[in-house]
Amino acid sequence: MAETFYITTPIYYVNARPHLGHAYTTIIADVACRFHTMKGAETFFLTGTDEHGDKIIRAAKEENLTPRAYVDQISGLFRNLWPELNIGYDHFIRTTDPSHMAVVEQTLQKIYDSGDIYFSEYEGLYCFGCERFYTERELVDGKCPDHETEPEVIKESNYFFRMSRYQDWLTDHINKNPDFIRPERYKKEVLAFLREPLEDLCISRPKTRIQWGITLPFDNDYVTYVWFDALLNYVSALGYPDGDLFKKFWPHVQHIVAKDILKPHGIYWPIMLKAAGIPIYQHLNVHGYWNVDESKMSKTIGNVVEPLQLKNVYGLDAFRFFLIRDMSFGLDSNFSETALVQRINSDLANDLGNLFSRVLAMAHKYFKGVVPKTDPDIEEELRFGLKSDALKAVAEFESFMETFAFHKAVAAVWEFINQMNKYIDVVAPWELAKKKTKASRKQLEVVIYNLLEGLRIVSGLVYPIMPDTAFTMQKHLGMDPEAPFYHLDTLKTWKVTESGRTLPKSTALFPRIDTKKTERQISGSKEQPAKSEQKFPPIKPEIDIDAFSQIDLRVATVVHAEAIPRAKKLLKLEVDMGEKRSVVAGIAEFYTPEEIKGKQVIIVANLKPVKLMGVLSNGMLIAAVDDSGSAVATLDKNVKPGTPLS
Ligand code: MSP
Repeated sequence: MAETFYITTPIYYVNARPHLGHAYTTIIADVACRFHTMKGAETFFLTGTDEHGDKIIRAAKEENLTPRAYVDQISGLFRNLWPELNIGYDHFIRTTDPSHMAVVEQTLQKIYDSGDIYFSEYEGLYCFGCERFYTERELVDGKCPDHETEPEVIKESNYFFRMSRYQDWLTDHINKNPDFIRPERYKKEVLAFLREPLEDLCISRPKTRIQWGITLPFDNDYVTYVWFDALLNYVSALGYPDGDLFKKFWPHVQHIVAKDILKPHGIYWPIMLKAAGIPIYQHLNVHGYWNVDESKMSKTIGNVVEPLQLKNVYGLDAFRFFLIRDMSFGLDSNFSETALVQRINSDLANDLGNLFSRVLAMAHKYFKGVVPKTDPDIEEELRFGLKSDALKAVAEFESFMETFAFHKAVAAVWEFINQMNKYIDVVAPWELAKKKTKASRKQLEVVIYNLLEGLRIVSGLVYPIMPDTAFTMQKHLGMDPEAPFYHLDTLKTWKVTESGRTLPKSTALFPRIDTKKTERQISGSKEQPAKSEQKFPPIKPEIDIDAFSQIDLRVATVVHAEAIPRAKKLLKLEVDMGEKRSVVAGIAEFYTPEEIKGKQVIIVANLKPVKLMGVLSNGMLIAAVDDSGSAVATLDKNVKPGTPLS
């Protein structure tokens, strides 16, 4: 019977734009899902956004937007980003979806009726940033470990979820199911936590303090704590309790999260499921953190890495490959553009790219681009173990992918790629071609056939990580890219390639990146080559303050942005600067419309309007341009649109 597979990502808070960390988790989920497709499984892939709570209200206020307009805007950024990264989710859930809210209410009522939710007064240490109470033990030097601020003592009547009652059950469940939480280190972390007494969880927030949330079905004066609301997305998205999707996929669910949210997923969530009478999830897969230059990504440090910029500069598949290859699932990893470029040049351009073009060039040169025959009498002795190496790579790939050891799965494939490269060096097809005997011609046919067959298997194995590359390889190997060439059964079979097929003209899969020319600062990375060689124009002649005050600089919010047909460098912006204006800016090579939308920018407001590519530009956007591209000037914090700069 076909396997069933359900994979989820965390639903991301909409208080920040998507960055490298969010992209990593969601790409991992996509890779896992595609891998299960290779096994012929029926799959369901869920992602979405977490939209309630105080954090969101604060972020909306900073942007001068209503909570509704704000959550719509940021949720849209996430939703639209995923297809750009070739991430094929099946459903995008939002915690503001009425169907989700109904499930939260229903579940709360069920747990309340069963007696696991009680009302009580509580005095505790509350971190407003995290929107939760902390115990003394959880603080670091008396401060919230995330926000590094001292929590405030607050006394409140609230509803509590009787988690303590399930502590022994959960410990037992984890011990009986050793890969319930993986990798091992995170299982140990949860078990260590469970050795201390488990406190009940405060699951309400009084409306006097927070209104943006789901009202408790049994008390109109309270909204639901964001985590109790958010975790339920994993079942509400499937139409819990009666939906067909729920019945089909829930028994096979696997969650992916990073270590930051281990506790809600490793402790609250299984206990919530147990208390609500819902079967417990299968696996919690926990990965580490991407840091940039050894420090946490943060807006304040200015080292937030934007996935779309990386895709635009280096190509999507190279970016996806780097993320999967360079992070050992479970451990932290350091992002740097230098490492990314090295990875592309060594693994993709050198190992895979060269192999692919060498083999195809030989097939074209020696056989006019027609797949040669293989000869059963001599094929085995000419294989030099290539078939068993391929089968070993497929087997290792399968078992590593199954257990979320993605980096090891990639390493297994690359071992095979390197064996193929060695095979070419050992059998030296050009020597066989030189001999020009009947026997050597036959040998050459078998060798090239073997290499094409090996590449076919490689193209299937790279499919989950680099789907576009896999299709390109298939096409240039003369196979039907529409066929399910990546099915594991096909990859476990040797001699699938059909002799006599014509190969289309070859292509370079991954051109080498010239580090001097193309490396540019995507993040705040310090590892960049010095840019001091760049010559800027000399400072202009002095002017007095009166002359300067003639220039009217205004703050404007970009409300809409779109490309201008046939103008590769230009974007048309609709800005709000007290009044609405249309401004044309030469930033299209460095910003997508999505990236610039919502930003507060600076406009020269009294510059004579001009028409650029037929579009009226009523004002000029201020940006800095160096040889790495352009950077739009923005303000340190948001102010009212139209505010003059002085
Ligand atoms: N809304 C909650 C999750 C609720 S799930 C029921 C939340 N949102 S979040 O926007 O903060 O996303 C956290 C997740 O984003 C992490 O668990 C991880 O998947 C991803 N990452 C965010 N930053 C990351 C890194 N620097 N590195 C790797 N992944 C990280 O928590």
